[in-house]
Formats: sequence, C-alpha cells, structure tokens
Amino acid sequence: MPQLRRVLILGGTAEARALAKALVDAGVRVVSSLAGRVRDPALPVGEVRVGGFGGAAGLAAWVRDHDVAAVVDATHPFASTMTAHAVDACAATGVELVVLRRPGWPPEPDWIWAGSVPAAAALLPSLGKRAFLTTGRTSLAAFAGLDLEFLVRCVDPPTGPMPRRVHVLLDRGPFTVDAERALLREHGIDVLVTKDSGGSLTSAKLAAAQVEGVQVLVVRRPPLPAGVDAVDTVDAALARLSGSSAAG
Ligand SMILES: NC(=O)c1ccc[n+]([C@@H]2O[C@H](COP(=O)([O-])OP(=O)(O)OC[C@H]3O[C@@H](n4cnc5c(N)ncnc54)[C@H](OP(=O)(O)O)[C@@H]3O)[C@@H](O)[C@H]2O)c1
Repeated sequence: MPQLRRVLILGGTAEARALAKALVDAGVRVVSSLAGRVRDPALPVGEVRVGGFGGAAGLAAWVRDHDVAAVVDATHPFASTMTAHAVDACAATGVELVVLRRPGWPPEPDWIWAGSVPAAAALLPSLGKRAFLTTGRTSLAAFAGLDLEFLVRCVDPPTGPMPRRVHVLLDRGPFTVDAERALLREHGIDVLVTKDSGGSLTSAKLAAAQVEGVQVLVVRRPPLPAGVDAVDTVDAALARLSGSSAAG
C-alpha cells in the first residue's frame, strides 16, 4: 500500500479495530477516534484519541491540523450523527472519506421491523410481556413508560429514565447461542428487541430466539447520507484507501 500521511478512523466497532490493525501492519500511520462513552473500551492498535470533535466544523479543523490524508467512518451503523459530520467535514476539507458499514443481519421472515427505537417501543406491548432489550443504554428512555418486564443488557450501567420493572445485566459480546438460549429461558423472555447492528459479536441472540420461539423485533438502520457509497468489509475499505488519491 502506498504511504498515506495519516488515516483517521472514526471507530467504536470491531471492524474499526480490524482496519486499524491492518493499516498499522501495512506501515500506515493511523489514529483511531472513540467517542468516550464506554468506561473500559476495547482499544485498537495504533494511536487513539478520545472524545467528540465539536461537530462537523470541529472535525474539519482536527483533520486540517493533524495531517490527515483520509478519513474512514467505521462507526456503528446507528451512529448517524457522526457519519453525517464525517461527510460534511470531508466535503469542507477535500479529504477523502471511506464509509465502512458492516452488512445488517440476514433477515428471518417472522421478524417484525420498526423504523426507530420509539416505534419499536410503541409496538412492543402487542408482541410480548417479558422483553429482552439489547438496543443500548441510551435507548432505555423510549421504553420507560411501558408496564412490561424488561431484561436489559448493556456494557455500562444505564442512567436516566428506564422502565419500572427492569433487570439490568452488564455484559458485552461475543455471546454464544447456548448461553443466549439459557438467558432467554431463565428470564422467561417472549420478545427480543434489537437494532439491526449486524456483525458476529452479538448475533447469537437471534439464533437463540429462533430456536426458543421468541419473537424478534428489529430496529431498522438509519439511512446513509445521500450520495454516500459505503463499503461493507475491512478488505474493501483497505482497497479503497490503496486506490485513494490521498495516497502517495
Ligand atoms: N449507536 C450505537 O448503537 C452504537 C453501538 C456500539 C458502538 N457505538 C459507538 O459508540 C460511539 C458513539 O455512538 P453514537 O451513536 O452515540 O454516535 P452519534 O450519535 O452518531 O454521535 C454523537 C456525537 O458523539 C461524538 N462521536 C460519535 N462517535 C465518535 C467517534 N468515533 N469519535 C469521536 N467522537 C464521536 C460526536 O461528537 P462531536 O459532534 O462533538 O464530534 C458526535 O456528534 C461511536 O463511536 C459508535 O461507533 C454506537
């Protein structure tokens, strides 16, 4: 791969960490950026910075000040604000942007889809009485008014409004199908709520729900900004960077 001045990876995902490793192994200067939401994040190899940039203008200034030749938005598929800022900042600076989005999960015919977390909360009472909520701690407020039993799994303890009848489980993937099945049975879960995050780290719950006859309610991904042509694998992101006009 030709030498890039520096690649900024907007991270927080397993793909971002894999890309950072591949670029570092290829001798490319990499800085990975994390939002700083998780107390003990899985860290990528290479340089890491933590915290927001201060909007699209702040990101553009950071890119200009740090000799960045290309930006890879490898954030989570639901981190749509960060993606929008990356698009705007790269347009403002003329720096190449590669958007890496892992594919969503292969859908099952009996999954029920919601267009947003609040839409999922509105549907939930018609689907079950004991819900396993895996949409992240920041989404709990949307479910706060519901009189159902909730099992909530998240990485860090939730704060803010949450349902009254809730059991919180602090854990992070990867999870196995057997362990997920045992969890569904232990808590008598009849409906699983998930974002269409994709990836293998947290997909075992879907197979477990299928086997256990648990209804799956999936929140659709927010759309990518207009005109963005994303790649869906780390290799494709590497190939795009190799052919980048920012290289050399
Ligand atoms: N959303 C999810 O379900 C989810 C799940 C797993 C992991 N994550 C990871 O968690 C982080 C935050 O996700 P989110 O959905 O809260 O983001 P978001 O709503 O799209 O972004 C909100 C703000 O957080 C800051 N930010 C987000 N990602 C950042 C990054 N990688 N580096 C520096 N600042 C970042 C930016 O602040 P400024 O405007 O100040 O720059 C951004 O405007 C992301 O890195 C994402 O990959 C998200």
